[in-house]
Amino acid sequence: MIYKATEENIAKAGKILKNGGVVAIPTETVYGLAANALDKKAVAKIFAAKGRPADNPLIVHITDAKDIEKYAYPNEKAAALAKKFWPGPLTMILPKKDCIPDIVSAGLDTVAIRCPSHPVARAIINAAGVPLAAPSANISGKPSATTAKHVLKDFGENIDAVIDGGTCDCGVESTVVTVATEPPVLLRPGFVTPEQLREILPDLKIAEAVTKELPAGAKALSPGMKHKHYAPKADVTLLNGTFEQFKAYVDAHMDQNPSCLCFTGEAEKLGVPCVEYGREGDGADQAKHIFRSLRALDEQGDGIVYARCPQKDGLSMAVYNRLIRAAAFRVIDL
Ligand code: TXA
Ligand code: MG
Repeated sequence: MIYKATEENIAKAGKILKNGGVVAIPTETVYGLAANALDKKAVAKIFAAKGRPADNPLIVHITDAKDIEKYAYPNEKAAALAKKFWPGPLTMILPKKDCIPDIVSAGLDTVAIRCPSHPVARAIINAAGVPLAAPSANISGKPSATTAKHVLKDFGENIDAVIDGGTCDCGVESTVVTVATEPPVLLRPGFVTPEQLREILPDLKIAEAVTKELPAGAKALSPGMKHKHYAPKADVTLLNGTFEQFKAYVDAHMDQNPSCLCFTGEAEKLGVPCVEYGREGDGADQAKHIFRSLRALDEQGDGIVYARCPQKDGLSMAVYNRLIRAAAFRVIDL
């Protein structure tokens, strides 16, 4: 059931969560599927509902940076990151304390912590009175959800409630950075860009898996990087080049009856079914629409999809990271 984010419903959600239930909540990035992070039975319900592999750890959501030390061992870098980017779309990995159950950290000795800025997310965490473990609210492997309707489509009545906070502002998940290692490493690009992070972490490294497929058998620094992700039913291929090169490639493959994932304003010029995912060169606009667009492709069913390739820097790095996974790493340089 979808409930409006009224004061009364936020209080109800808090109660459900405190009592071991699972509630989908809006955040500034994407919707999260939340449960009490300190209750391993409640957290197990998240893994079951999503069909999430047990080796993929969850993010713990708090509303006050001071609470980090209840669940993890902070350091100077963590404090500096929290001061600059919290509340907001940044998740940091730190050595974990014992109160965090193994199921949350998937057996790792670190824990991911995030302090969201969305007022409804914050109100629900405070109403629950406990930290909330919350992965993105989608069936494992599918595109993340940026509206309450997307959440309902994936989970139906399999969860206790969905609180509707409207469409998520950022549209892609939080940036994940580990400060549990020296040097710190960017594990997942998000709304906070590498350039912004380097103002605080000048020696930041970027994990190879951010922009490339890991070789078979290689160990991922972040388990989420190795799992199949964001995949629509269609076979997506990214075409890296200009619009003219893209159109020529699509025209030459008309026998495949392809569809296209393109930039705003390009659909009418392509003459095939298209989904537009944001303005060319505008990472924020692309981020906001990428998951809605991947879900719209899903509605069209299977088949061949050619996608325009975004830039790989700034905010577009997050979009590129999601798209190469949606495309199972098929990228053709035109
Ligand atoms: O914006 C977001 O981060 C959303 C909202 C709901 O907060 N949450 C989210 O969670 O995207 P999820 O579970 O879909 O992605 C969490 C990512 C995964 O790739 C996971 O492997 C990684 O963070 N992660 C979690 N704990 C980790 C740890 N201890 N070490 C390394 N990576 C970790
Ligand atoms: Mg996810």
